[in-house]
Amino acid sequence: MKLVIINIKQLLNVRKETRILRGKELAELPVLENAYLVIEDGVISEYGLMQDLSINMKSTSIVDAEGQFVLPTWCDSHTHLVFAASRENEFVDKIKGLSYQEIAAKGGGILNSAKAVQEASEESLFNSAFIRLNELIQLGTGAIEIKSGYGLTVEAELKMLRVIKRIKERSPIPVRSTFLAAHTYPAEFIHDHQGYLDLIIHEMLPVIAIENLADYIDVFCEEGFFNPEETMAVCRAGMKYGLKAKIHANQFSGGAVTVGTNVNAISVDHLETIDEKEIEILAASNTIGTLLPTAAFFLRMPFQPARKLIDAGCAIALASDYNPGSSPSGNMNLVASMSCIQMKMLPEEVINAATINAAYAMGLGETTGSITVGKTANLIFTKPIPSLAYLTYAFGNNLIDKVMIRGNFINE
Ligand code: NIG
Ligand code: FE
Repeated sequence: MKLVIINIKQLLNVRKETRILRGKELAELPVLENAYLVIEDGVISEYGLMQDLSINMKSTSIVDAEGQFVLPTWCDSHTHLVFAASRENEFVDKIKGLSYQEIAAKGGGILNSAKAVQEASEESLFNSAFIRLNELIQLGTGAIEIKSGYGLTVEAELKMLRVIKRIKERSPIPVRSTFLAAHTYPAEFIHDHQGYLDLIIHEMLPVIAIENLADYIDVFCEEGFFNPEETMAVCRAGMKYGLKAKIHANQFSGGAVTVGTNVNAISVDHLETIDEKEIEILAASNTIGTLLPTAAFFLRMPFQPARKLIDAGCAIALASDYNPGSSPSGNMNLVASMSCIQMKMLPEEVINAATINAAYAMGLGETTGSITVGKTANLIFTKPIPSLAYLTYAFGNNLIDKVMIRGNFINE
């Protein structure tokens, strides 16, 4: 099936070929004004200016995008989409004055989510996550990474990963799976860290490898959670099975970026507390720094120093961190606006960071994240808007008219 989209006011992020963008490159967003786009069998096959359109329209469907901006769908490279229950009681506790760490120390936080996941059936976890996934697609997310990490027993971690595998098989958008058993120590291993590390390394990883349940391995490298040595041990064990590292780093304290770059992590995520020294280390590495502004917002933390990171030459991606504890929203439009408003990123930088760089931050840069011939036609069609900047300026407004996944509009 051939589909031609005509009269596109602006076609955003048009690239002949792609690679990870760093530093100043992030501000360069290639745009075609008054453009057309051709899609064949769900894949982008051609684009150009309307004045150069010379296509035989026979047996071709035409979509008139008069006044609309068309851009690649958001790529959300960090989520905890599979969970059994929301945690608004902790939200209220935080309003009353408790900190994230105090709630965790009381057996709340991640342990609270783990209890609910351990008790939930695979079926119910799949159903609730699949509903969330479809809600996110309507909001313009066209590729997603999903982590385990709310299981924390051999059985429940494998259950979560099998749920993610099912989502992967049934999802219309590409899904990447990350193994995060090293999210926190379960209560029974608080004084026996090695015991839990042994479970991860000797009981969970071999099964994950046999059933092909994960693409990445993640660790919450943080004071009170996994220290640098423990993080390194888990990452190295995962890497033996071909799982690249993707680390929760520098959310509350420093050091994890250094660990991440040492294990050649594909990304280090969070970075609320990254300092000048670790910014330099990140800039000199191949690792992508993924900023999660809605988590900082929700936890009332300082926002990530996006300007310093970009000015130092780092490769930056943006993601939602969708999870019940620190970011109960997976809305990438909100992430995009917040990045401009609170982190002083330019709208162009935000679009690049939340599309092409985020695609690379989950190993999907060759198939999604830009308007490039051969890439999947996962696209956002905006409502009529006056300019590119309006997209991130008018925060909280629904500016998406339609979302296309693999060449089909999903909400028609
Ligand atoms: O990315 N920081 C660690 N993990 C999650 C939050 C987990 C939770 O509170 O459930 C995060 O913010
Ligand atoms: Fe997270």
